Amino acid sequence: MRLLIATATAAAIAAAAGSAAGFAAGPAAIAPADTTFPPAVVALGDSIFHGIAAGGLCFTCHGPRAKGIPSLGPDLTDAQWLNGDGSYEFLVKTITTGVPKPKQAATPMLPMGGVNLSAAQVRAVAAYVYTLRPKR
Ligand code: HEC
Repeated sequence: MRLLIATATAAAIAAAAGSAAGFAAGPAAIAPADTTFPPAVVALGDSIFHGIAAGGLCFTCHGPRAKGIPSLGPDLTDAQWLNGDGSYEFLVKTITTGVPKPKQAATPMLPMGGVNLSAAQVRAVAAYVYTLRPKR
């Protein structure tokens, strides 16, 4: 039920987020760490993460709340990163390439979680994951 509500909410904001892809398309969109992202970009990333936009499958391994699913995909909301420093650049790179040799999980993450995302969509979902980090 909680997933259903989250899904419906994300669908509603996804409709408003259509223009976000334009923002995330250019080189300038590779934002430095500790930046803030336009809400529409984060909303688009949220939709991709939850499979509402672009057929994203992230939630199937990382969980609908990105808290991880044992042996499938790690928690993306905690301060611990298995494969890098948790920076926005790290997220873009890791989501693009996947994780062929997982540190803990039983099976790899395919590039873009196994679906074909544009560079702009990768940056949007990276921005969304970036916002999940613990607040300091
Ligand atoms: C088939 C399952 C699967 C799917 C789908 C998937 N991932 Fe992953 N993800 C993994 C695994 C496995 C790892 C590596 C965990 C390890 O090193 O033990 C990983 C690692 C990551 C990491 C690095 C985490 C860390 O601690 O280093 C990020 C960020 C990430 N995934 C984001 C995403 C996003 C965003 C999507 C959707 C575009 C996605 N994943 C789709 C399984 C998946």
